[in-house]
Amino acid sequence: MWTKLIFGLVLAAFASLQFVNSLTCYNCISPDDCRNPSTQVCSNATADATSRWLNTIHSNVPTVSGSNSFKCMNLTYYYQANLSKTHEYLGCYHPAISVCQLNVNATQGSTWSRGCSTCDWDKCNRNPAATFSKSTYTIMASAITLILVKFAV
Ligand SMILES: *[C@@H]1O[C@H](CO)[C@@H](O)[C@H](O)[C@H]1NC(C)=O
Ligand SMILES: *[C@@H]1O[C@H](CO)[C@@H](O)[C@H](O)[C@H]1NC(C)=O
Ligand SMILES: *[C@@H]1O[C@H](CO)[C@@H](O)[C@H](O)[C@H]1NC(C)=O
Ligand SMILES: *[C@@H]1O[C@H](CO)[C@@H](O)[C@H](O)[C@H]1NC(C)=O
Repeated sequence: MWTKLIFGLVLAAFASLQFVNSLTCYNCISPDDCRNPSTQVCSNATADATSRWLNTIHSNVPTVSGSNSFKCMNLTYYYQANLSKTHEYLGCYHPAISVCQLNVNATQGSTWSRGCSTCDWDKCNRNPAATFSKSTYTIMASAITLILVKFAV
């Protein structure tokens, strides 16, 4: 029985490793575009594209030559008074960049409010799909646990 349990655990560990290795994030580059985001698989190339976008309106984006793991982000700038969005970007990024704490240097940038979140599971950077995929993941995890328990008995 223990052999089966350990075998199951090793399988589950491999499965979760795969999740980490090929992170998929929603991607869009403007408020219009973000009404219907596409998806991207995180890589140095997709994270570099995010860095380039960040550099257009921020002054202190660190240069990262490459990363071995990535995260997803949703960064929005908007006017507090009427909630109209000036910028919105969803995508993969290099975790070494504190994407939510960058200095905005765009003209008028000081009048914007920032909405920003980061996460590291598949397709987690969109509302309300974020909660959906998180719960899907939880359901899958419980299902795997159930199967493991069956194996062990
Ligand atoms: C903000 O800073 C970046 C990096 O220093 C620069 O490339 C960019 O042109 C600046 N943008 C504005 C609007 O000043
Ligand atoms: C991404 O960059 C890191 C650090 O430079 C490097 O170790 C890794 O191999 C690169 N990944 C790919 C797929 O090129
Ligand atoms: C929202 O407010 C800003 C700043 O007051 C203004 O420039 C912008 O035109 C407004 N947008 C809309 C859609 O009303
Ligand atoms: C990104 O986050 C903002 C809140 O910060 C949210 O209003 C917006 O819907 C999110 N973008 C997408 C495409 O889910």
